[in-house]
Amino acid sequence: MQKVRIHSKQMIAEKTEGKEGSNLNGAPKLYIETYGCQMNVNDSEIVAALLQNKGYGITKEPADADLIFINTCSIRDNAEQRVRGRLDVFKQYKKKRPELVVGVIGCMAERLKEQLLVEEQTVDMVVGPDAYRDLPQLIHMASAGQKAVNVHLSREETYADIQPVRMDPGKVSAFVSIMRGCNNMCAYCVVPYTRGGERSRDPQTILKEISILEKENYREITLLGQNVNSYQWNIGGQNIDFPDLMASIARQFPGIRIRFSTSHPKDLSDKLLETIAAYPNLCRHIHLPVQSGSSRVLKEMKRGYSREEYMKRIESIRRILPEASLSTDIIAGFSGETEEDHRETLSLMEWAGYDFAFMFKYSERPGTYAARKLKDDVPEEIKTRRLNEIIQLQNKLSAASKKRDRDHIFEVLVEGTSKRSDKELFGRTSQNKVVVFPKGNNQPGDLIHVKIVRSTAATLIGERV
Ligand code: SAH
Ligand code: SF4
Ligand code: F3S
Repeated sequence: MQKVRIHSKQMIAEKTEGKEGSNLNGAPKLYIETYGCQMNVNDSEIVAALLQNKGYGITKEPADADLIFINTCSIRDNAEQRVRGRLDVFKQYKKKRPELVVGVIGCMAERLKEQLLVEEQTVDMVVGPDAYRDLPQLIHMASAGQKAVNVHLSREETYADIQPVRMDPGKVSAFVSIMRGCNNMCAYCVVPYTRGGERSRDPQTILKEISILEKENYREITLLGQNVNSYQWNIGGQNIDFPDLMASIARQFPGIRIRFSTSHPKDLSDKLLETIAAYPNLCRHIHLPVQSGSSRVLKEMKRGYSREEYMKRIESIRRILPEASLSTDIIAGFSGETEEDHRETLSLMEWAGYDFAFMFKYSERPGTYAARKLKDDVPEEIKTRRLNEIIQLQNKLSAASKKRDRDHIFEVLVEGTSKRSDKELFGRTSQNKVVVFPKGNNQPGDLIHVKIVRSTAATLIGERV
């Protein structure tokens, strides 16, 4: 998900002011607004597919919709507050059109369940991430004036047979979910509660989805899972792990770039790194969330690795994939974090020299291990100060990373016209860095070679070679 790089990883909101009016003729229309991670973006595409198959149209205009869904995120409190703000806006729509159905789907629906119906009068439907196949029936109930809820979590559901509806045709890059849920139970994290246990998707259905994307001219796919390294599938007694899956995709689709997210450090194997090294279309970028540089805090977080073990993983990346870029996620001010722990985070960042990072203030989530057993005892102003120090250091590291790229030549996948000038295009390197360069005769989807000549805070500036 191409995201705002600093605080709000993964916050995607479509701006939605528009004309009023309802669709009384023809197919009923769905408007869907998505918050949260890439997985949620892909889930919205699955929901759109499920409803399109039942005769719904998709609209980008909430004022035109018969059905409004907010696909929600619970990862931090501010993610939930934004959704509540949007519900206030949709309340106004409903005042004018009482027949409008408003549904909250995704992680916040799963976390709050029926309670959401009590707290938010605007909401007619509450549907968790594993219950989307039930949507047609739930919509039927809600349209008849009943409140409709399904927050059942499944051990099997992967929506393997659903070909997602891509909301922005013309893009060169698409998401493909390869697994759902998470078994890790990191102390701070709500995801195992909102998404349930881990399950992998049948590799045949993954390959089929990618071959359809290839025919539709997609040139890059990102394989999604909360912990892709624990992908497992058994066919006829033979086990397929994540590196095996990557290798078969790389071989079958040599013209498509492949990315993945997210790798858990405790499960990142040399086999995966060697597989990436063996195929040029597997992208040279590893996102390896560290969360903290202090072994003591990592233990409290139940991450399953120490500072030293994490550093060993980075050494393996540098050895096996020296041209790879490295990014991370960091939480500032977790329960019990001392100044000394915080300095260890800064020193680890400096040592790793991350190319980019997503950085967050710790937000206690009800029901998690940390909420039940640990005290959220770092004062807000100290969390803010530590986060700012982390961001400042990352800005310096990101600038250094871009400087290192100067005079180097990269293969760039052209994505579109630059926001700053229609005489320029932008694209991404295998390392996931954005490059802007003069237009020439290229089109989105082309792979070209670009030499980096300079950089700004956010972007590399290049010229074609
Ligand atoms: N499965 C992915 C993470 C998904 S959540 C992984 O383990 O890497 C994305 C990021 O949000 C996490 O890496 C973490 O940095 C952050 N995060 C999760 N819970 C949080 C919380 N309670 N407060 C602040 N940040 C949190
Ligand atoms: Fe959350 Fe940890 Fe699972 Fe990531 S690995 S989703 S941080 S519990
Ligand atoms: Fe948010 Fe759920 Fe993703 S909590 S980060 S939308 S898995």
